[in-house]
Amino acid sequence: MAEFWGPLAALAGEWEGEGGLDTAYSHSQHKVLGTPFREKCTLKSFGPVANGSQELYGLDYKSAMWRNDEENPFHTEVGYWLYDAATGEIMRGFVVPRGITTLAGGTAAADATEFTLHAAKGEANYTIGENLYLAKEASTLSYDATITIGDDTWSYDETTMLKMAEFAEPFSHTDRNTLHRVG
Ligand code: HEM
Repeated sequence: MAEFWGPLAALAGEWEGEGGLDTAYSHSQHKVLGTPFREKCTLKSFGPVANGSQELYGLDYKSAMWRNDEENPFHTEVGYWLYDAATGEIMRGFVVPRGITTLAGGTAAADATEFTLHAAKGEANYTIGENLYLAKEASTLSYDATITIGDDTWSYDETTMLKMAEFAEPFSHTDRNTLHRVG
């Protein structure tokens, strides 16, 4: 699989993680909060997808994060991971159901165990779209993630810079977790 999916081959499957940590501004508590969370994530392989001479292999994914034993997740994502083995281009395109779409990208060797992804508002290729309310009140300026792959485990550490109405300076909204294979 690594020949076509590169580092994404190790991510296919079902995953859970108990030790997530989110830092965000809470509108209900009017302060910045560090929130522990648990997470489930499913990634399914597909490919190839042909764009002319480009061949992409990928994973479609769904992830959800919960606080404690709450019934409804407080954050979810659906999206695609994509890899171009000819160039090493690696991408994660996803939607956060606040009305945000992100296509983040980077490069990674097929056997990489760590790689980074970047997107920023207004950039030509790896960029962020958001709804009209968020553009005024909490605009996503950039998204940066580091992915680290272990043995039946993988971790992410991501920073989403937000221009929030509540703060004069951009606010660093961060999330990290380590996921363990359950299927
Ligand atoms: C594990 C990943 C994530 C978790 C657990 C998470 C969780 C949260 C939480 C708890 C809030 C505060 C909501 C409130 O009380 O008002 C928030 C705000 C926000 N998040 Fe995330 N988030 C994650 C990732 C992301 C990503 C990747 C993006 C964008 C690409 C994003 C964009 C935003 C925005 C724009 C807001 C501000 C909404 C507002 O102030 O109205 N988040 N997030």
